[in-house]
Amino acid sequence: MRRGRAALSLGLGVALCVPLSVAAQVSPEEHAKHHPAPAGVPQSPPATSTGAGAMSGMADMMQGMGTTPPKELYPRLIGLPALSPEQLAELQRDAHARMESGTRAVSDALQVLQEAAARNDYAAMQDAVGRMREGLARFDSGLAAHRAAAAGASPQQIALEWFKRELSLPMHAPPMTHGWLGWSLWHWAVMVLLSAFAVVMVLMYVVKMRRATALLARLTEPPPGAVVAIPTPTPPATGSSGVDPQAPPPTASVSDRAQQSTGTWSGSLRVASVFDETPGIKTFRLVNPTGGPVPFEFLPGQFLTLAVAQAGSTTKRSYTIASSAEQRGYVEITVKREEKGVVSRYLHDRVAPGDLLQVAAPQGRFTFTGAEADGIVLIGGGVGITPLMSVVRSLTDRGWDKDIFLLFACRTSADFVFREELERLQKRHPNLHVVATMSRADGTAWMGPKGRMTKELITQSVPDIARRRVHLCGPATMMDATRAMLLELGVPGEQIRTEAFGPAGSKSDRQATVQAAMVEPSPATPVVAFTISNRSAPLPPGTSVLEAAEHVGVVIDNSCRAGTCGQCKVRLRKGSVTMAVEDALSPEEKANGIVLACQAQATTNLEVEA
Ligand SMILES: Cc1cc2nc3c(=O)[nH]c(=O)nc-3n(C[C@H](O)[C@H](O)[C@H](O)COP(=O)(O)OP(=O)(O)OC[C@H]3O[C@@H](n4cnc5c(N)ncnc54)[C@H](O)[C@@H]3O)c2cc1C
Ligand code: FES
Repeated sequence: MRRGRAALSLGLGVALCVPLSVAAQVSPEEHAKHHPAPAGVPQSPPATSTGAGAMSGMADMMQGMGTTPPKELYPRLIGLPALSPEQLAELQRDAHARMESGTRAVSDALQVLQEAAARNDYAAMQDAVGRMREGLARFDSGLAAHRAAAAGASPQQIALEWFKRELSLPMHAPPMTHGWLGWSLWHWAVMVLLSAFAVVMVLMYVVKMRRATALLARLTEPPPGAVVAIPTPTPPATGSSGVDPQAPPPTASVSDRAQQSTGTWSGSLRVASVFDETPGIKTFRLVNPTGGPVPFEFLPGQFLTLAVAQAGSTTKRSYTIASSAEQRGYVEITVKREEKGVVSRYLHDRVAPGDLLQVAAPQGRFTFTGAEADGIVLIGGGVGITPLMSVVRSLTDRGWDKDIFLLFACRTSADFVFREELERLQKRHPNLHVVATMSRADGTAWMGPKGRMTKELITQSVPDIARRRVHLCGPATMMDATRAMLLELGVPGEQIRTEAFGPAGSKSDRQATVQAAMVEPSPATPVVAFTISNRSAPLPPGTSVLEAAEHVGVVIDNSCRAGTCGQCKVRLRKGSVTMAVEDALSPEEKANGIVLACQAQATTNLEVEA
């Protein structure tokens, strides 16, 4: 008896505490053994506690008890906007019946449980517990419907409450919060975080690619100014200067292309070939080390600046591009070897095909594209022919049909650089007129004009010289004399364009003059203060700021020392200067106090950023 009471207590405890799902643990066979289905009614599976299983289980239970199936009422409630008094009464009746049948089911099951406990029939006990729980659930749902109806809830609310109870859902779920675009704050926070992550990943990728590109560029370039011997597997075809038939075809005309190069590019070019032009002059053909066209554009007459590192110091020198601007596959510089020159000797004696040269972008205003005038007179002396040769090559490459006069002066026919090419071009282009004069022709086979450039030679060679545009390049003395002749011949000064390759006078003479002036400056001699290096130097009359700087060991970059290349630009902070040549300065630079140290002279004290 005691054992039976213990089993009963256990059964009640389980009925009240254990979830309804326990019922599912009873096998269908056991269920059928204790609850045979009525005749004609198919055997139902045991009731489950959740979802449709719970509802169908409840319907079966109601059918088994001979009561009204509940599913007819609650689905109907969902569709009703409001309860009429009749419907309310029906609902209350139904809820009442549900509570009664629930109570009955519990008490019947309790009875069964007691008997099963006495027999130690565990399967029957478990079944009884399940029935008690179902009865309780039924009672509970009826009670909930009653209370909701009494509180005046809407039909949907009542139906909802019932379903929630059946499905064991929380009765008062927190309302969903919706923000902008229907997203909650949490949603937004997550999306912002994800977007930020994506942006950071993209930025990291971009930075990585930039670094990789920079690294690649560094790896393909030698240290600044250094000349590195790298064998060239397949150098372009060698031959005489001029247009290489194997080189890539020219693209659009240079005059149609973008404005002149602004001088921002710098990098290395590979020496593809070296040509001996005359005993003292060599041409260096330079190509893009990575293949394809050279990495800049230029106008006929512009120059490159080379930086050469030797014995721990870097020296810069400018060299005109002598090749055609229509030729994009290479550029050529033609260099005269100076007996004691730093860079020209280096190029002649040490540089070979395959080497890399450190180069800064083309610059210069001594250019002629064909758009500036309807004819051009080019007068050159010695290696000063290089910018004029670029004009001739570019114009003939393009088939420019206006008159091109080239007047060239050199010492002997052996120094007549580009002679064969000019003769060939002249045969092909009737608008090209070449006249050369040799100052030391005596005893040679030269049959042409002899002596220096003269007014007679100019007027005989060029009709209507006074109305023409003239470009002049050569040794300083030759240029001065020729310019004076042109003015005498009536050529307006603004129609005469010149380019100096270096300062007038020899380097050693100049150095001696500066040294003498510096040794004993008078008390009235102005002083130039260099603000960055915190040094100062006397600035005697006729001495440039560059020379004064060199005297006290202040380094100012320089190349031409003739006001052409712009390498020596510095900012003037105090005082005023005069400059004989200021070709390398733009109007904006002048307005911003930039001066050319190689040209700047003064009669008052100066402050210069250097
Ligand atoms: C815009 C521009 C374009 C140019 N284009 C060309 C070009 O196409 N081709 C070309 O060949 N040049 C060109 N030059 C000239 C070129 O830049 C160099 O000035 C030239 O090659 C000499 O440089 P270097 O370093 O060999 O001589 P540097 O060392 O500068 O010497 C200059 C001169 O001084 C002499 N010298 C040097 N040291 C001494 C000493 N201790 N005692 C006595 N004399 C000394 C040298 O023999 C030389 O004549 C151009 C210059 C400019 C500004
Ligand atoms: S050094 Fe070339 S402009 Fe001064």
